[in-house]
Amino acid sequence: MSDSWDSAAPEWDTDVAVRAYATAAMDSLRRVLDGYDLDLDNAVVCDFGCGTGLLTEQLAASVASIDAIDTSLAMLEVLDRKTADHGWSHVTTATEIPTGRGLHDLVVCSSVCGFLDDYPGTVDRLAGLLRPGGVFVQWDWERVAGGDHGLTRDEIEQAITSAGLAGCKVDTAFTVEVYGEQMAPLVGSGQRSSGE
Ligand SMILES: C[S@@+](CC[C@H](N)C(=O)[O-])C[C@H]1O[C@@H](n2cnc3c(N)ncnc32)[C@H](O)[C@@H]1O
Repeated sequence: MSDSWDSAAPEWDTDVAVRAYATAAMDSLRRVLDGYDLDLDNAVVCDFGCGTGLLTEQLAASVASIDAIDTSLAMLEVLDRKTADHGWSHVTTATEIPTGRGLHDLVVCSSVCGFLDDYPGTVDRLAGLLRPGGVFVQWDWERVAGGDHGLTRDEIEQAITSAGLAGCKVDTAFTVEVYGEQMAPLVGSGQRSSGE
């Protein structure tokens, strides 16, 4: 079945702005994880809305495994080719969120949550993947007053908190140039309590 993102897949990795976004997201991730005392080394990761895997590729060097999830088969085909080229058996792709509960150390969602039909419900499902102490992190454009794209700080905080995650933080993540304009996406995060 064709997906509305399929047509973007072949050229996705040639877009300077999306590459810069993914690199900045990786730097932002290291800062966020410092705050939760979670080490990327040997982490079991779910990269939800992975696209062609621009963030997946950066994570792959240090983590134990990555479940890379995306509804666009064309995006996943690009990632599958890169994974095969690298010989990475620890990176697997799928169109559905994994069913196992409490097995992941980290869930990352880079520029996908603002496109979801059911954003809070999806965060709830993704939070269920986390083991106690595991961390959820998302990056999204900030929706401005009157805008029809992105998420507000309140929406992010509410979704993360309602999903039962503790220590929710929502901040400006970084600045990135997008077609000549400086843009500042948000990063939202929360942690599954160790006592659960
Ligand atoms: C803006 S792209 C970001 C891709 C990638 N994270 C990156 O930063 O390069 C959004 C991605 O979210 C995926 N997506 C949209 N809705 C989704 C859903 N319900 N479940 C999983 N992936 C979804 C799209 O197919 C697309 O690859």
